[in-house]
Amino acid sequence: MSTASVIVTGASRGLGRAIAIALAQMGADVTINARTEAALFDVKQEIETLGRRAEILAGDVSEADVAERLVAAAMLAFGRLDAVVNNAAVLQPVARIAESDPFAWRQNLQINLFAPYLITQAALPHLRRAPQGRIINVSSGAAVRATVGWSAYCVSKAGLNMFTNVLAQEEQRIVALAVRPGVVDTSMQNTLRQLGKNAMEPEAYQRFIAYYQQGQLLPPEQPGKAIAAMALKAPLSWSGRFISWNDPDVQSLFMT
Ligand SMILES: NC(=O)c1ccc[n+]([C@@H]2O[C@H](COP(=O)([O-])OP(=O)(O)OC[C@H]3O[C@@H](n4cnc5c(N)ncnc54)[C@H](OP(=O)(O)O)[C@@H]3O)[C@@H](O)[C@H]2O)c1
Repeated sequence: MSTASVIVTGASRGLGRAIAIALAQMGADVTINARTEAALFDVKQEIETLGRRAEILAGDVSEADVAERLVAAAMLAFGRLDAVVNNAAVLQPVARIAESDPFAWRQNLQINLFAPYLITQAALPHLRRAPQGRIINVSSGAAVRATVGWSAYCVSKAGLNMFTNVLAQEEQRIVALAVRPGVVDTSMQNTLRQLGKNAMEPEAYQRFIAYYQQGQLLPPEQPGKAIAAMALKAPLSWSGRFISWNDPDVQSLFMT
């Protein structure tokens, strides 16, 4: 059987980069996307050092044709598509609803929710032909916990969870999962620490500051490895779940 091929969005840094590299370590070829092309070249090089292939499609996932081009690039490079990891997302606007910028609010939904819809739609015809197609949507605890100052982010991730549920019901031969990656040491946490002070509730803000100061943020490689394993091995019986990166079921994927 030929090598599995997986698309990862937001793979220039942070969790997406870790997912792409873990996928290569597990033997997959990867098509990587983000806006920053130079950083994608570094990730491509790392993947090639691991003996796997990487294709780059730089672009903003909220732009109309990027989804089609991303899927086309994966098919042209590898001739098959087995999974998509919708990981690219932004936290902003970090502001209370009354003060938030409508343009930034809409942009958040376009990146975090509408782009996964577009990419899923473009990928489905190919995923249906894969031995086992999978869509992994990187969600957040914010999907199920209202956080003051994060209205667009919470709404986008709650929407992504419901999107995953509907997808699982419509596409009964495809595994659709929404994954909670934990609190991870990435630029998104940095953005939160920089912008959150005036918008968030003080206790919530201080909790995130404490995670950082006490070294409790997860290294991206930990949830990255779990999410890569789900993209390659999650069984159909899991479809529709909102699952944490460290759920005991995920550990079972490393034993097969
Ligand atoms: N970090 C956490 O604690 C945490 C917690 C829960 C959930 N998550 C989720 O984990 C995922 C990864 O986040 P992260 O923490 O790794 O954040 P990050 O370090 O800010 O990385 C975000 C990635 O998305 C890309 N991106 C942003 N906007 C994009 C756009 N319009 N088009 C294409 N790519 C775009 C960025 O690259 P460019 O800037 O080069 O485009 C980058 O590669 C997100 O879905 C996030 O919601 C994170």
